[in-house]
Amino acid sequence: MCGIIGIVNKTDCVKGMLTALSKLEYRGYDSSGVATITNNKIDYRKVQGKLANLKELIYNKPLAGNIGIGHTRWATHGEPSNKNAHPFVKRNCALVHNGIIENYLDIKKSLANQKIDYKSSTDTEVVAELMNYLIEDGATPLEAMKEITTRIEGNYALVFLLKNSNNLYFSRKGSPLVLGLSKSLNCVASDTLALPNHIDKVIYLEEGDIGEIGNGQAKIFDQSFKVKKNVIHDHISLQSHTSKNQYKHFMIKEIHYQSKSIDDTLLNFAKKNDNKVYLPQFKFDTKKINNLSLVACGTAFHACMISKYWFEEISKINTLVEIASEYRYRENSVNDKTLGVLVSQSGETMDTIKCLEKMKRQNINTASIVNVLGSSLTRDSDYILPTLAGPEIGVASTKAFTAQLTVLALLCIHIAQKKGIFNESTKKITNDLFTIPGNIKLILKNEKTYSDIAKDLIEAKSIFYVGRGPMYPLALEGALKLKEITYKHCEGYAAGELKHGPLALIEDSVPVVVLAPSDKYFNKTISNIQEIKARGGEIILITDKEGAKKSSGLADKLISLPDSNLLTAPILYSIPVQLIAYHLATLLGTDVDQPRNLAKSVTVE
Ligand code: G6P
Repeated sequence: MCGIIGIVNKTDCVKGMLTALSKLEYRGYDSSGVATITNNKIDYRKVQGKLANLKELIYNKPLAGNIGIGHTRWATHGEPSNKNAHPFVKRNCALVHNGIIENYLDIKKSLANQKIDYKSSTDTEVVAELMNYLIEDGATPLEAMKEITTRIEGNYALVFLLKNSNNLYFSRKGSPLVLGLSKSLNCVASDTLALPNHIDKVIYLEEGDIGEIGNGQAKIFDQSFKVKKNVIHDHISLQSHTSKNQYKHFMIKEIHYQSKSIDDTLLNFAKKNDNKVYLPQFKFDTKKINNLSLVACGTAFHACMISKYWFEEISKINTLVEIASEYRYRENSVNDKTLGVLVSQSGETMDTIKCLEKMKRQNINTASIVNVLGSSLTRDSDYILPTLAGPEIGVASTKAFTAQLTVLALLCIHIAQKKGIFNESTKKITNDLFTIPGNIKLILKNEKTYSDIAKDLIEAKSIFYVGRGPMYPLALEGALKLKEITYKHCEGYAAGELKHGPLALIEDSVPVVVLAPSDKYFNKTISNIQEIKARGGEIILITDKEGAKKSSGLADKLISLPDSNLLTAPILYSIPVQLIAYHLATLLGTDVDQPRNLAKSVTVE
């Protein structure tokens, strides 16, 4: 899927553009190009194939300039070739474009008396010619942008480089664009992942926005050309993820970072209030997919297990979830309607990579949800969905887990949208995803509650986590977090399964953490709480206001979280689970960030 970068720098921007384009490679592309302006002359380089070809071309035939635009193209109109690659350079302008201009033939007709010699078979070149014509006709850049955006139909993110101007001009509709701002340079990109490291502020453009960026300035206008003030977000540089700052451990820093990483992941792929998800387009027909095989290890596997409840309820799609080390050796059957989804923080886990190889041999489509771009999984999967958690340093995964859940939720909505089964209630829960970052901040304000619970767990020989529905895999994750960093025995169970064995282990004062939002499973979970209490177990109930009311007096300790729904609950309830493990580990004095016997990235069988 196409990628865009535009940079206005105080010094040369070509190297910066090539770095940004390499960060966009994960989206898939078949050609690439860049254009710059120096001494009011637009120059460009573009080639078919890998970015390495473009780099080689620029090495042999250097290009310079402080202002430039760059593009990775994934062919829609016209075959992959040099002539169809972007940018399209005309006398007055150069243009890069993501999306499809549906009425480009009408626009072409309207320019018929200009006797234009089109060089490509693309819709984009027609829009570049329209800009060229409007500028020659005397329009100012902003007047021309206004005219263009009223005339074109379809989905687009457009960025123009213009002669006689020190600015870049852009607009978006149905295709994302984000502005990156810093003291030394301003830029515009199709993806926050493409932004240079030192960018410190980010503005997500909204549907229909038109604007300009120059050195030290950025202006955004709405469709009636009134100046707009979009929300400005902080952008955290990659380097700042690798220092602890004021935190004692990376793990607690990463737990606190989750409101930001989830916000970033959501804003990169969805827009508040329009209930739509903008994932890069699949190379296969989503409507034809009728079963998913989700494969991962460790914490990522738990994220997959949770998402099974979402895919089956919201996208109405059969979902198999399996541990990678099992999937790779099993004689399983797939068909051409199967989509293999691999989830991994590092993208380097050997078992998960082997499953990708197996899926490729089986000839099924593959998509990977990965935190580290450029990792082995991102190089070999058909389709990449990045999590925007930033580098995760603590061995026990926290922010990568909730970012994986966020992307899985977005994928689930995307499939539902494509299948045309997206109704009012699913629209509402999509919008509710945007409440997560704020609610995580609220939960973190009460951190002391969790350190108090941890104090009471110091003496426990054995601890249990239980839940039903999506809270069952989260119970597994809670137990895993606790085991990993406290070295205490802890088990996660489906609450309904206790009576089939584990109840034998419940005796006086054995702590059982129950994860139970007031959802369709709640009353059943209450019955399970009764079974535990009847055997002397100590109940730590994590629920919401409604659940607190309904369970009155039953729990020994009760934590009430903000209201949630099917999609948001597992993400929100992750925070208490992580905090309990973290605070217990610090009380016990274990090596929180590098627990014994474990590795962050497991590249062996
Ligand atoms: C290791 C880590 C876990 C992680 C698992 C899978 O065991 O310690 O935290 O969940 O690998 O790693 P991945 O990078 O594939 O998500």
